[in-house]
Amino acid sequence: MPEPATGRLRESVRHLWPELEWIKSEELREKVARTWVRAFELSPLAPDDLNRIPFTLLAPDCPVTFMEHKRCVVHIARQSAEAINEFMGRSLTVEMDTVIAGAILADVGKLLEYENVDGKTRQSRRGELLRHPFTGVALAMECGVPDAVCHIIAAHAAEGGLVKRSAEAIIVHHADFMAYEPFKSR
Ligand SMILES: [Fe+2]
Repeated sequence: MPEPATGRLRESVRHLWPELEWIKSEELREKVARTWVRAFELSPLAPDDLNRIPFTLLAPDCPVTFMEHKRCVVHIARQSAEAINEFMGRSLTVEMDTVIAGAILADVGKLLEYENVDGKTRQSRRGELLRHPFTGVALAMECGVPDAVCHIIAAHAAEGGLVKRSAEAIIVHHADFMAYEPFKSR
């Protein structure tokens, strides 16, 4: 039996992420959900905060919430992967569960990068030292998430420009930037 607090967090995670149901592998779905629960256990943020705080601190007065942005990225990534499989599947097969799990987990490390002070969200000292791709991988590995999905977390942001991204990571990276760059300060 999970601890009562963990049980509540599991419920909140399921509520925040209806897209978890898209992951066909029950084992992977469970590991992805567990990673989010673990992140909340260690985070100064609560589940409700994600429906309120901006998705990035790099866009001034960002009007889009964390969850709006993250769910949008998961939807873009899934539909892009489906189009690639439909039209180019003979030469390039994209693993759907890996794309969806990677997109759901890409920013989980932000729960350890941000803090709320006097009603404002800002980067914590830990976040300055370890941006979310790093803490995201640490959380996911602790929860047994496969390397192909951890690779997406590691490579989804600018740091990932230094590694050879998998096809699944390329999709999540572009989905993320498509929904971020229009808001970026110039
Ligand atoms: Fe990110």
